[in-house]
This record gives sequence, C-alpha cells and structure tokens, in this order.
Amino acid sequence: MDITKLNEVFSKILISIEESKSEVLDICENIRKECIDLNMQLESIKDNVHQLIKKVDELEILEKNSRKELLKVSRDFVKYKEEDIREAYEKANMLQIQLITKRQQEKEFIKRRTEIEVRLKSAEKTLEKAENLTSKIDIVQEFLGGNLQDIHNTLEDIKQRHILGRKIIHAQEEERRRVARDIHDGPAQSLANLVIKAEVCEKLMGVDIDKSKEEIQELKKCIRESIKDIRKIIYNLRPMSLDDVGLVPTLQRYIEKFQAETSISIDFIILSQVALEDSVKSLSIFRIIQEALNNVRKHARAHTVKIRIEMNTKNICINIIDDGIGFDVEKAKLQQGEYDSFGLLNMKERVDLLNGDLQIKSEINEGTKITVNIPRED
Ligand SMILES: Nc1ncnc2c1ncn2[C@@H]1O[C@H](COP(=O)(O)OP(=O)(O)O)[C@@H](O)[C@H]1O
Ligand SMILES: [Mg+2]
Repeated sequence: MDITKLNEVFSKILISIEESKSEVLDICENIRKECIDLNMQLESIKDNVHQLIKKVDELEILEKNSRKELLKVSRDFVKYKEEDIREAYEKANMLQIQLITKRQQEKEFIKRRTEIEVRLKSAEKTLEKAENLTSKIDIVQEFLGGNLQDIHNTLEDIKQRHILGRKIIHAQEEERRRVARDIHDGPAQSLANLVIKAEVCEKLMGVDIDKSKEEIQELKKCIRESIKDIRKIIYNLRPMSLDDVGLVPTLQRYIEKFQAETSISIDFIILSQVALEDSVKSLSIFRIIQEALNNVRKHARAHTVKIRIEMNTKNICINIIDDGIGFDVEKAKLQQGEYDSFGLLNMKERVDLLNGDLQIKSEINEGTKITVNIPRED
C-alpha cells in the first residue's frame, strides 16, 4: 500500500475519533444541563409538597373543628337558630372540599416528585456512563495517537530513505558515467594514439633512424601523459593518500594543486585535530571540500577561500568561506537535479548519511559560507 494513502487512513481515524469525542462531550454537556434543570424542578416541587403538607395539616384541624362545631350547633336547637346551623354546615362543607382538593394536589405533587426523582437518577447514570466513555476515548486517542504518530514517523523515515536510496543510485550512476567519460576521453584515446605512433615508429625504424628516435621520444611523452591521466582518474575515484597519510595531508596536497591550477589563494587552518580513523567519514569530508572548491572554481569568481577544520573528540566542524559573487541558495536548492547539477545535493546527502548538519549561507556579492558539522559517533 502507498505510504501516503496509509498516512491518510491514519489521519482519518484520528479525526473520526476526535469527532466522536466531541459528540460525546456534547451529549455530556446536554445531560449535565438536564440534571441541573431536573434538580431545580425537584427543589421547587419539594417546596410545594412541603407547603401543601402544612396546608393539609392546618385544614385537617380546621375541618375537624368545623365538624365538631356543626355537631354542637345542630344538637342545640334552643340556643342556635336555623341560620347558625346552615352557616356551620356550609363552613364544614367548604373546609371538607378544600381539604379534599389540597389532598388531591398533594398526591399529584408527590407523584411528580417521584417521577422527576426517577428521571434525575437515570440522567445521572447516563452522565456517568458518558463521562466514562470520554475518558476511555481519551485513553484510546492517547494510545492510538502515540502509536500512529510512531507509525507515521517510521513511514516518513522509510519514504525518506527510499528517496535517498534513489538519489544515491542516481549519484552513483552519474559518477560511473563521469569515470567512463574520463577513461574514454583520456587513456582510451591516448592508447589508440600510442598504437598508431608505435606503428609509425616500426615503419620508420629501417628507413630513418633519427626520425624513429624522435617518434619514440614522442611515444614516451604520450605514455607519461596517459599514466598521468590514469592517476588522475584513480585519484578522483578515491585518493589513495587518504588511506596512506590520512585526511589532513591529503587535503593539503589537494589544496596546493588547486591553488596552482586556479590562482585562487586558500587559507587552510586546522583548529584542532583528533585523528580520524573512519575511512568513510574521511572520504566524505574530502568529497565535500572537493565539491565546495569545485563550485568556487566554477561559479564564485573568488580571490580567496578560507577553510577551517576543527576535529575534536565529539565532532568535526568544517567551514568553507569564499569571497566570491555569492548565489541565491533557496533558488539553487529548488533547481537541484536539473541541468545535471548534483553538487550541493550530493554534499547534503553525504552529510545526512553521517547524521550531520549542513548550512549554506550566501548573499549576492557577499560570498558563500558552508558549514558542516559531523558527529564522530554514529
Ligand atoms: N561558491 C559558490 N559561489 C557562487 N555560486 C555557487 C557556489 N556554489 C554553488 N553555486 C551555485 O549553485 C548552483 C548549484 O551548485 P551545484 O549543485 O554544485 O551544481 P553545479 O556546480 O553542477 O552547477 C551552481 O550552479 C551555482 O549557481
Ligand atoms: Mg558543483
């Protein structure tokens, strides 16, 4: 499966978990509001029930008294008139009706109170469950989030390695093509020339001995040139002196040659030097400086270059500073790989492979400064 697709799937899972969580939080919030509302209703009903009970108690006493009064009045015909009896009767009757009504109300309120109590209990239970669910989602989110991030990082890593691998293969192919071209244009051509020159000598031998001696001189010169060419190619493949005398003397020799060929003066200073045993690192550092100087030669139009190397026990820091015309680094980075220019890219890849750090600072007409930091330990 495509890595980008996997990443999409992971992001979707995380988003959908996040959405579910926010839905559950909404539900929690609603239930919490309902609980508050139900609690308020309950308080007010309790208040009502309380007052009603008081009222019913009062009415019960009043009604009892009114019945007593009615009994008294209706027994004593002498003392009380028909009017009094009716009055007492009506009062008792009214109180009884009031009492029945209030009792009825009391019953209804108690019923509603019970109902609300049941609803409140069930809402509280649901709230507890929902809150439980959010904390579970939190755990899932944390767990998955962490793991998915790990997986995401690993996939990113694989992707980067994949890209890097392809670039390395590409760079290797480039290097091979360059070597093939060098051999084709140099030694192969010289050797073909040598065969022709040898044939000419062979023919001249019997005819003109002086001329043939001249041709042999020419032949020797040609052979020396070819040896020089071959040495150059070998040196470019891997400077032997790196293994024999180490990085710093190899660089010194290279720099001397560079100065002689270009008339650019190089100020080479080694600030501290703890010998570097690692041959891969030595070669990489050599190549980085070689590429930086090649760029100075090709593009910078510089007068002087400062090279500083600090090799301590922890890391190796290299500064290459030229006083040339400078360039737009961001633009050059974007154009990497186009027009067959891989120099800066190769530099970056070499540094990356050694877990190091490469900084290129350049301003138009202000020169270029390249800083490389490579840890000694991998
Ligand atoms: N020291 C420098 N001074 C000025 N321009 C530079 C320097 N180094 C690099 N550049 C610019 O950056 C571009 C990319 O460099 P590089 O990747 O080495 O490719 P190439 O050297 O093959 O052109 C160069 O074409 C040049 O324009
Ligand atoms: Mg270059």
